[in-house]
Amino acid sequence: MTDAPITVALLGCGTVGAAVARRAVERAELFAQRAGRPLTLTGIAVRDVSRARDLPGVPSSLLTEDAESVVDGADVVVELMGGMEPARSLIERAMAGGSQVVTANKQLIAHHGLALHRMAAQHGVGLDYEAAVVAAVPVLRVVREALAGDQVTSISGIVNGSTNYILDLVARLGVPFQEALERAGRLGYLEADPAEDLEGLDAAAKIVILARTAWGVDVTLEDVQREGITRLTDADFEQARGTGQVIKLIASAWSSGPAAQPRVELAVRPVMLAADHPFAQTREGRNAVVIEAESAGALRLHGAGAGGDETASAVLGDIVQAARRVAALH
Ligand SMILES: NC(=O)c1ccc[n+]([C@@H]2O[C@H](COP(=O)([O-])OP(=O)(O)OC[C@H]3O[C@@H](n4cnc5c(N)ncnc54)[C@H](OP(=O)(O)O)[C@@H]3O)[C@@H](O)[C@H]2O)c1
Repeated sequence: MTDAPITVALLGCGTVGAAVARRAVERAELFAQRAGRPLTLTGIAVRDVSRARDLPGVPSSLLTEDAESVVDGADVVVELMGGMEPARSLIERAMAGGSQVVTANKQLIAHHGLALHRMAAQHGVGLDYEAAVVAAVPVLRVVREALAGDQVTSISGIVNGSTNYILDLVARLGVPFQEALERAGRLGYLEADPAEDLEGLDAAAKIVILARTAWGVDVTLEDVQREGITRLTDADFEQARGTGQVIKLIASAWSSGPAAQPRVELAVRPVMLAADHPFAQTREGRNAVVIEAESAGALRLHGAGAGGDETASAVLGDIVQAARRVAALH
């Protein structure tokens, strides 16, 4: 046994990465207690080192544009760059070198999670991504760990904050649909490619990851029956209002058939809900998920599905878990 620090490398220092770096420094003592050994940030890869950054207590010498050098030799590699490449190659490099990997990259996991899990198993390392699905809300952990002794039958919820913000503006504040869309764009609430949010691609990625975690099935984005919110009209909202209902974008996954060979169906689509339904009462950019399991019944989780600090909470939880694995190994 050693008490040498566990080395942590960050790939990306944007909204989430900067929050992770700040908290890693601020809470160093706490994380040392929880992991059993101190954690040390050994490098932070960015695209442009000359950018001004708000990183009190984080030595600027840690920032570099050489991501590969940051990965090599780190006990835990934390990917917070987003996108497919170079994120995927760097994660593969980290695993091949024996590092534990943490990421918040939902599209990467939805597209390549199966191959990355195979590689993680081959190299005997962990691959964790709690933050990829509804950020601060620990839904993956509940499905994977708390319900490991139960049989999940369905998962449904509001898993995209931007579209919920838009639908809430229309339903609760009576803002015309088109104006609500424009307002979300102006406030920076939509992804760089707004189709990710508006066409339900972001929600589809999350429900795919949840379904794989719940049932161990090889589902892909192509398996999701997907309809976004762009085809909704003011008339749809009028109709909902007239019948005391609210329109929400709901992602859902449900299983049928034997537990050993579940048949899983997946959908993302706008749904009209009674105004007193818990999802109908999920306001602004918040997220809510209901997990139904045979013995546990319905479990409801809700909270922040985005934001630097909120997402960092989930990332840091994964980092502490990864560090515990490292501490247990050597
Ligand atoms: N923001 C949220 O609320 C949220 C919630 C849940 C999950 N996530 C996920 O978390 C991840 C990070 O999101 P974010 O909002 O923090 O993104 P972001 O603000 O755009 O930050 C991305 C960071 O990665 C760096 N980067 C990008 N490409 C790079 C490259 N080729 N080489 C080196 N560095 C590179 C950027 O460097 P520069 O700083 O030099 O540009 C930046 O520091 C994404 O996968 C996202 O889907 C985000």
